[in-house]
Amino acid sequence: MIVTKSYEDSCQRAAELIEAAVLANPQAKLGLATGGTPLPIYRRLIEDCKAGKISFAKVRTVNLDEYCGLNGSNTQSYRWFMDHNLFNEIDIDKTNTYVPSGLGDLAANCREVDKKVRENGVPELQLLGIGNNGHIGFNEAADLLHTETHIEQLTESTIAANARFFDKSEDVPTQAITMGLSSILAAKSIVLVATGAAKAAAIRGLLCNDEVTTQNPSTFLKLHPNATIIIDAALATAAGYEN
Ligand code: PGA
Repeated sequence: MIVTKSYEDSCQRAAELIEAAVLANPQAKLGLATGGTPLPIYRRLIEDCKAGKISFAKVRTVNLDEYCGLNGSNTQSYRWFMDHNLFNEIDIDKTNTYVPSGLGDLAANCREVDKKVRENGVPELQLLGIGNNGHIGFNEAADLLHTETHIEQLTESTIAANARFFDKSEDVPTQAITMGLSSILAAKSIVLVATGAAKAAAIRGLLCNDEVTTQNPSTFLKLHPNATIIIDAALATAAGYEN
């Protein structure tokens, strides 16, 4: 658990943890996330790679999720996001990067993600954001959660939160393919970064009691032996978290 002075500092700490994993094992497997939160983390990785401080040449990556119905050339797809916000700017071999596909035979795509995760081996580090409702990946708050990769119906609060990235609200996808809880929790280490008052309730559930509930999927991280939650002081205060 790390409380930083600012979101910028949180992203710096997360980038350092990712780079430490890659320096320790240049062939590291990384689980990566999309969304607004990781953008400054990826910018730091790009900067350090361009400055020759770190190489991703032998790193393999798997992303958590993808919208259904968008192909990789759609600027809202997570494949596009990862290519343009990270992969195209670092020395990674693109064939070693994997983002689930939300097109075509979705059941087959789900099986492919789980196969890919098994083939790649357990990630050294899984980066996570968190939804306003506590979702991790796109595992939404619900009466039950899934262990394996599956198709998730996005909740109204997630669709509303994602709408900021789209010109028209009717364009926001309502379904996504997402890794389940067991693949996420299998990572050797997990780094979750959160910022903003909208995340306060989810972070309170994650940090301020010992309860685990499907209504806040992030609470399952309490079962992980090496999960680092990084939040800034403003969010800690909003969540009522005391160091
Ligand atoms: P955000 O999304 O980083 O855009 O807030 C996080 C998430 O939904 O997991």
